[in-house]
Amino acid sequence: MSQTELIQSIRRMAQEKDAVIMAHYYQRPEIQEAADFIGDSLALAQQARKTDAKIIVMCGVHFMAETAAILCPDKKVLIPDPTAGCSLADSCRAEELKAWKERHPEYKVVSYVNTTAAVKALTDIVVTSSNALKIVNQFPADAKLLFGPDRNLGAYINAQTGRNMELWNGGCHVHSRFSVEALLTLKQQYPNVPVLAHPECKQVILNISDVIGSTQALLNYVKAHTDTPRFIIATEPGVIHEMQKACPEAEFIPVPPEITEGVGCSCNECEYMRQNTLEKLYACLRDETGVVSVPTDMAREALKPIEKMLAMSK
Ligand code: 13P
Ligand code: SF4
Repeated sequence: MSQTELIQSIRRMAQEKDAVIMAHYYQRPEIQEAADFIGDSLALAQQARKTDAKIIVMCGVHFMAETAAILCPDKKVLIPDPTAGCSLADSCRAEELKAWKERHPEYKVVSYVNTTAAVKALTDIVVTSSNALKIVNQFPADAKLLFGPDRNLGAYINAQTGRNMELWNGGCHVHSRFSVEALLTLKQQYPNVPVLAHPECKQVILNISDVIGSTQALLNYVKAHTDTPRFIIATEPGVIHEMQKACPEAEFIPVPPEITEGVGCSCNECEYMRQNTLEKLYACLRDETGVVSVPTDMAREALKPIEKMLAMSK
């Protein structure tokens, strides 16, 4: 079957089965083409909450499907490749977070959405890169807050909000390894080209970037600047697919990683996000495999900080 036929078959099957296909901006372009809805982490959670479909196929990494399963306990939530993890979510285990909380009994826990359901169940409020500043700003200036697991995002929130949250020492392997030297060279080569960066990048990268935001915020910037001929992109390059659609004539230059593992290396791609393929999506929908569920007690606890986030990001 050609890629176009496969996409058509997936679309037909989704209609027959009353399934909605959601995809993160970091998914392979052909998966984005097969999806009903493409979004960042926040939009995917919001969309999961409001869908009427019987089945949600979450084309993203495992925590995104788990978040949908927590929000929609009565729906079947599927992921094309259930082993698609996230190095950032893996950098914070629930037992370790519990011990950290116990050492800081008077603190509230603010967790990035890139966490397991078990971590969310120990959390007071969840945030995404879209709403983190807005939500943290709603806490009193002297609130005692623990933030995890992304230390780069945490440091960025502290700097922007004047807060002094205690930070977990976790990170995303993709965003931590963008090369500062390569970005400086690109900036010299293309002097007036805006640099768009995700806040999971290291502080040194953010310091020399022009626009910092979630995948949706970066895409919105491109959509609002359709006359700009070039953009430098410091996030997973999957997002360029939608950017290119918004600005077909523009050139998008991805920042390379520090270590290049050979010719043709795509080391700034998230290999977890790329685990989902069109073939796996087809098989998962056809056989209704890759079911993601969360134990009831854990889901009940994890739902509270997610609900709080959805309410506070309005
Ligand atoms: P967004 O909140 O922009 O969707 O980012 C999610 C993510 O995994 C970034 O690496
Ligand atoms: Fe996780 Fe990083 Fe991949 Fe995002 S890019 S899903 S934070 S490993």
